[in-house]
Amino acid sequence: MTVTTDKPAHMRHMPFFLAPLAPFTAESAQGSWVTDTDGNRWLDFVMGIAVMNTGYSHPKVVKAVQAQAAKVSHAQMGIWRHQPMLDLAAKLQEILPEGMDQVLFQNSGAEAVENAVKLAKQATRRPGVIAFQGAFHGRTHLTMALTCSAVHYRGHMEPLVGGIHHARYCYPYRTPASEDPTAYALEDVRRVLRAEIVADDVAAIIVEPIQGEGGFIVPTAEFMQGLRAIADEIGAKLIIDEIQAGMGRTGKWFCHEHYGVKPDIMTSAKGLGSGYPIAAIAANGELWDKCMPGSMGGTYGGNAVGCAAGVATIEAMKEDGMLENAAKQGEKLKAYFEKLQQTYPAIGEVRGKGLMMAIELVMPGTKDPNAAAAKTFIAECIKRRLIVMGAGAFGNCVRLLPPLNIPDEDLEAAMAVFDEVAPIAFA
Ligand SMILES: Cc1ncc(COP(=O)(O)O)c(C=O)c1O
Repeated sequence: MTVTTDKPAHMRHMPFFLAPLAPFTAESAQGSWVTDTDGNRWLDFVMGIAVMNTGYSHPKVVKAVQAQAAKVSHAQMGIWRHQPMLDLAAKLQEILPEGMDQVLFQNSGAEAVENAVKLAKQATRRPGVIAFQGAFHGRTHLTMALTCSAVHYRGHMEPLVGGIHHARYCYPYRTPASEDPTAYALEDVRRVLRAEIVADDVAAIIVEPIQGEGGFIVPTAEFMQGLRAIADEIGAKLIIDEIQAGMGRTGKWFCHEHYGVKPDIMTSAKGLGSGYPIAAIAANGELWDKCMPGSMGGTYGGNAVGCAAGVATIEAMKEDGMLENAAKQGEKLKAYFEKLQQTYPAIGEVRGKGLMMAIELVMPGTKDPNAAAAKTFIAECIKRRLIVMGAGAFGNCVRLLPPLNIPDEDLEAAMAVFDEVAPIAFA
């Protein structure tokens, strides 16, 4: 099964930069598969970038959305309430860390991050934020300034929002051999506090529990624990951005659970609504009490259909055992690539948790980034109608984000394509 990937047809009435990775228009989608308007089936290992965690068209989500759309589709949250928002706030209590007892709903991940930072600033009356090199937190003006994973997210946009300082993220694979990855990264946070911003000006430290766009970089648990300790020491709030790594993606509801740390403020979006735009900012009620009324809200935040989708998503994930499946299938995928690595030294590292997996490609015998291998691997997979995508500042990582309920046969179908593509991309 081979298709050509000619440059996508120019979309006359849309900006050209929207030319998609996979050159088709979708007609319908079910589970891990998308059918295009020519009737071809594509196996999706991107899933809207970690959005369709429950697979496309999960019956429970479809049913909830259809029922809600016929009842109440919208209420501005400051005007009157709708039941799905109350239900989703209560449902989230089943999966959020203890004490994060209040949730504000917004539309997108970037909006959630914006409001998380605003909450930290209002609560502490401090102006500064520490974020990390390689981070991705969104594309709005504030979140773009937090984002530091590639220059195209920030280029030609100066001046950026001020008061944001970047420290080194914990990246074990690229830590100099003579250094300890945890200490090396935490020392850079200390450097920022020595050289760039006074500790009691820091409102928040914001961190992804696995860097997403940055290349699925998995930090050490001790790094995350160290950030928790520094935040406590300086009186700053720890914001954990679970937008890509959360909602079961890593085999736990939220990725920070792997590290034994708890955030003060947590953001969630993407997988929360199975494709419907819903985002959440969770924190303790005492913190929310410090927020100035009217400073957060918005016309569509907490949309009724999005909230109904969110409730159905959590229920479907529980009923179908999706966290367990993500952990189990993630182990298989990891074992598969670790075996492939023994044949192909271009695979520098296989990393991830659950079904948030990536391979980092290097020039064999070195750690020099090998973007060409990643590009070929992705293009050859797409030729065979398997959708995978890149990540990392050097473009040398391939990320794999199948649905959390992926069955064995779909995983095996993808592995059969990888078997074909590896000798072409990595030889
Ligand atoms: C960790 C993280 N934070 C924030 C965002 C921004 O989310 P959105 O695209 O919904 O604004 C993303 C999107 O990829 C993300 O991965």
